[in-house]
Amino acid sequence: MAKNSNGKSSGVSKAIQPLMHQRGPIIQEYGTLRNLPLGLEDDARKQMIDGLNQILADTIMLASMYKKHHWQVSGHTFYQLHLLFDKHYEEQSVLVDSIAERISLLGGVTNGMPAAVAKITKVENPPDGVEEVPVQISRLLEAHELIMRESRDLAEKATEVGDDGTNDLIVSDVLRTNEFQTWFVVSHVVPEPLVKADSPNQPLAKVA
Ligand SMILES: [Fe+2]
Repeated sequence: MAKNSNGKSSGVSKAIQPLMHQRGPIIQEYGTLRNLPLGLEDDARKQMIDGLNQILADTIMLASMYKKHHWQVSGHTFYQLHLLFDKHYEEQSVLVDSIAERISLLGGVTNGMPAAVAKITKVENPPDGVEEVPVQISRLLEAHELIMRESRDLAEKATEVGDDGTNDLIVSDVLRTNEFQTWFVVSHVVPEPLVKADSPNQPLAKVA
């Protein structure tokens, strides 16, 4: 047992101590490919990894925007949108993990840190302040549409290069989730009357 200058035990035992504040070399650079026995050509894997990294960055932006709007939403639809935005955030977060793990599985490097995402994403960054609900919804819909376009392109390329796994992930999970969420979100910006039907053929019933 180690001793203090006064000869008493310092309380620090001979137990193995953690080695902290370590740094080391990069063991795989971003943009490089690791050899994996998947039966896929290097060029095919590289194309898929590039496409997946783009969709990953845009999906992280969309998920973050859902959280921002979950916190900042207000107005008479507050409760339903507050809950809906958080549900969609959770579902997008599942996609983030699936896309990122597919990149690693294909031998690529994924990042996902906010600074790296900001460099890659094509989603417009919203302002820090609070925007009106229709604007929040418009931003979400635009991000969804961008991701769906990218997904269809990548799914087609995946079929061309024989990467059925990427095609399945993009179509079954990414594309379908984005289509479904778009339906739920876009339905909130249809200007339907809330109380009185907007039809001249159906006058209000007279009260006796
Ligand atoms: Fe919350």
